[in-house]
Amino acid sequence: MSDIIKIKEEYINKLKDNLDLNNVNQLKSELFGKSGIISNEFKKMGSVSAEDRKKFASDLNSIKNELQILIEKRIQDIEINEINLKLQNEQVDVTLPERSFNRGKIHPVSQVIDEISSIFSEIGFSVQEGPDVENEYNNFTALNTPDNHPARDMHDTFYLDNKKEFLLRTHTSPVQVRTMLSSKPPFKIIAPGRTYRSDSDQTHAPMFHQVEGLHIDKNINMGHLKGCLNYFIKEFFEVDKIRMRFRPSHFPFTEPSAEVDIGYELKDGKIIIGEGDKWLEILGCGMVHPNVLKNVKVDTSKFQGYAFGMGIDRLAMLKYGINDLRAFFETDYRWLNHFGFDPLDVPSSYRGLSR
Ligand code: PHE
Repeated sequence: MSDIIKIKEEYINKLKDNLDLNNVNQLKSELFGKSGIISNEFKKMGSVSAEDRKKFASDLNSIKNELQILIEKRIQDIEINEINLKLQNEQVDVTLPERSFNRGKIHPVSQVIDEISSIFSEIGFSVQEGPDVENEYNNFTALNTPDNHPARDMHDTFYLDNKKEFLLRTHTSPVQVRTMLSSKPPFKIIAPGRTYRSDSDQTHAPMFHQVEGLHIDKNINMGHLKGCLNYFIKEFFEVDKIRMRFRPSHFPFTEPSAEVDIGYELKDGKIIIGEGDKWLEILGCGMVHPNVLKNVKVDTSKFQGYAFGMGIDRLAMLKYGINDLRAFFETDYRWLNHFGFDPLDVPSSYRGLSR
């Protein structure tokens, strides 16, 4: 038997063994690599006698083809085998129950803060923030609230030190002070955020939310305040008409001061805003007191304006029919799933701004 027939049989046998992809590739390079067995046989061609050369060449070529085909077939078989094994082992079990997942909801208070910011931004207010921990000066003194004022009492205020220098802000009004101290007039800002008072019952929580408004410019008057609040309430409650009442009141940092009530009526136990002969207090406001403007170095011969402060939680309760304030802060997921908002929902008050 000639050499090449022997080689052929040897490799056919080897290819019958139990081989993996690496083994087959190894045999492939033994035969067909640069100095592989078959390649070497081709090199021998020159030393074969002229009469045998033709047969040798044709035998060698057919052996080469045969082995090549065998090897490619083996490679294919191994690959198909691997895929089948994978398919068998990695089957999808369609009978498995789905994995539960929680989808986050937007808290009604966050939703309402977004709505409020959006409505005021339409008429040129920008949004400012201040810290929950304030100093006594920004929260009281700068706001013309004297030392003996009842609002400074321990019963109302959470102080953080014995000297009463630091406290949890009792309203968002210190953001007025911060804003005016840090830049130059005109100012047209709102400031939503958390506020704290030592108070807790069905309608009062020790932590609650307010939004402050401040508009200081040349010739700003009570008429502008009224127009601004009227616009806001209509947009917020999505009504065309609103009954509003400015009641004289007192705040140390505004003069004159007023509290604002909006009209409502009860229909089947539900509050309907804008109609009826009942009144609901929703905010405090007034023209910023000249003493406050002086404290923050605003020239009172040139500038004046109004400020207001609204309870956000109350607004959220009214708009979305929530009747217990405490539920807002109990972090009960069932409550949040019911009253919370889908992050992708576009609230109608974003759309109604063209009215
Ligand atoms: N800071 C006042 C409060 O918390 C509200 C207010 C703000 C009143 C601005 C007038 C001007 O009750």
